[in-house]
Amino acid sequence: MIESEGVDVDRLISSKKRDSKVFENKLRPSDFNEYVGQDDIKRNLDVAIKASKKRKECLDHVLLHGAPGLGKTTLASIIAHEMGVNMKVTSGPALEKQGDVASIISNLQENDILFIDEIHRLKPVVEEVLYTAMEDFGIDIIIGKGPSARNMRINLPKFTLIGATTKMSMLSSPLRARFGNIYKLNFYTESDIKKIMLRSADILGCKLDEAAANRLAQSSRLTPRVANRLLKRVRDYAEVHDADIVTEKIANIALSDLGVDQLGLDDADRDILYTLIEKFNGGPVGLNTLAAATGEEQATIEDIYEPFLIQLGFLERTSRGRLVTDRAYEHLEITAKGKLL
Ligand SMILES: Nc1ncnc2c1ncn2[C@@H]1O[C@H](COP(=O)(O)OP(=O)(O)O)[C@@H](O)[C@H]1O
Ligand SMILES: [Mg+2]
Repeated sequence: MIESEGVDVDRLISSKKRDSKVFENKLRPSDFNEYVGQDDIKRNLDVAIKASKKRKECLDHVLLHGAPGLGKTTLASIIAHEMGVNMKVTSGPALEKQGDVASIISNLQENDILFIDEIHRLKPVVEEVLYTAMEDFGIDIIIGKGPSARNMRINLPKFTLIGATTKMSMLSSPLRARFGNIYKLNFYTESDIKKIMLRSADILGCKLDEAAANRLAQSSRLTPRVANRLLKRVRDYAEVHDADIVTEKIANIALSDLGVDQLGLDDADRDILYTLIEKFNGGPVGLNTLAAATGEEQATIEDIYEPFLIQLGFLERTSRGRLVTDRAYEHLEITAKGKLL
């Protein structure tokens, strides 16, 4: 069984979130056929999985990186499913001591998968034991103190580590070098998001017409988790209003009630852009200053809001700080000072 500890993008769409885990698990694809998009990754993984099964060896360690909600945890569970092994889930901050790593890995069966979410947040001491665990399937511990101290090696079962991170740049290079397979998950195309949403609607028994699906896909930030959340909100809206089928009109009203615009920007995104424009003349401004001015955590801006704003071409990351682009001014229908739009 697999439990997930996804990065929290719930705040992208405010309101209820407690039922979100159950909801997410229900919609989570269980094999490659159900996993839409990311074709290059699927193709490469398929080869790697088939080869290791043929050799009866465990899969080389896998590192998945990309923005929250793009399907890293899902992909890890699919790999476990395709390999026919169990997966144990933990996260970087949850591993506090070297002993945590030793006990978690020694309890795995041969060829099992250890999934470490937010692997960029490992403590250095923990990271160090992982090196030998990944490389030699062993852990060295020191017994005793002073001159009588001696080294003892604990042998571990052969296992596959799957690491997931939203921040590849924060991963140390020795750790990165120990992964045989490294894949970057990209934002999805609108048509893939539409497929994901129609599949989810089917599972939820919610009827969605073509135009509504297009409208929701446009506002999904090209992110499956957001698409599923929007679908759920819109379904609630349709239910409350006794509509049997979600039409474009219903989708529009529900989205506008949520403050989600045509491109999927919500109040928090707009707040970041407006703050940059109104207080800092569009930038460039440092991340810490921007965080202080918006009242958001730096990490939240960096991990959750910024990747999509950059993807839209609304924000640029320069050496001098964050800069709003003309495109963002156009979208917000603001005339930039001194700039002709
Ligand atoms: N390629 C995909 N096809 C279908 N659904 C997906 C896909 N990727 C993600 N999802 C859906 O989006 C949700 C979030 O994915 P998740 O794997 O938790 O993202 P991450 O771990 O990258 O934050 C999942 O519950 C799943 O339902
Ligand atoms: Mg996750």
